Amino acid sequence: MSDGAAVVVRAWDDDDARATLEVFRRAVHGTARHDYTPEQLAAWAPGDMPLADWAGRRREAATVVAELAGRVVGFGDLDPAGHVGMLYVDPSAARTGVASALLEHLVAQAHRRGLAELSTHASITALPFFERHGFVVVEERRPVRRGVAMTNFAMRRQLAAPGDGARIDTADAPERTSGGQGIAR
Ligand SMILES: CC(C)(COP(=O)(O)OP(=O)(O)OC[C@H]1O[C@@H](n2cnc3c(N)ncnc32)[C@H](O)[C@@H]1OP(=O)(O)O)[C@@H](O)C(=O)NCCC(=O)NCCS
Repeated sequence: MSDGAAVVVRAWDDDDARATLEVFRRAVHGTARHDYTPEQLAAWAPGDMPLADWAGRRREAATVVAELAGRVVGFGDLDPAGHVGMLYVDPSAARTGVASALLEHLVAQAHRRGLAELSTHASITALPFFERHGFVVVEERRPVRRGVAMTNFAMRRQLAAPGDGARIDTADAPERTSGGQGIAR
């Protein structure tokens, strides 16, 4: 748990490969296990993912990483069109604002790029998190991953235009951000 420590969000480094893959596996097989069958979890996060492939995909996706007290506890990414592709938090740091800090960072990126909207495909597990952050469900989906069908939800969130009351400074938003337990509500 964070014990009130600040979440630091920073850019991916190749040295983060092992830690982020571990977070991914633990988030899926730990936090999401209440919402999906063992077969679905195994298709989502198989045990035999090669580290080099994982690192290549995270680098390509311009991943950002969240640290608590110097330990990697989460990661996420935003594609050029504003789609939040990955958002995963270690179960040991769940519900301490880590994903909120990551999303805040991704929202700042989106503002800097002039995007009007964010989208995601939220798992059943992540649905309440995204709803809490202003996303709305567009449709329920049933994608097939490694031959196994599993439910998720297409969601969208409109972004406030600069000067619309948004508190993000689009010109000066930092590449490295610190967030406490505060959540943009
Ligand atoms: C979804 C996930 C990233 C959320 O991470 P997190 O760091 O625990 O989220 P936060 O602490 O920032 O949560 C902020 C708020 O979102 C809401 N929320 C988050 N998880 C929730 C849950 N399981 N149930 C209900 N509300 C939830 C709450 O309002 C929470 O505030 P609160 O804790 O003060 O009540 C994490 O649960 C996870 O990794 N899940 C498994 C993997 C996954 O499904 N990833 C998404 C793929 S699309």
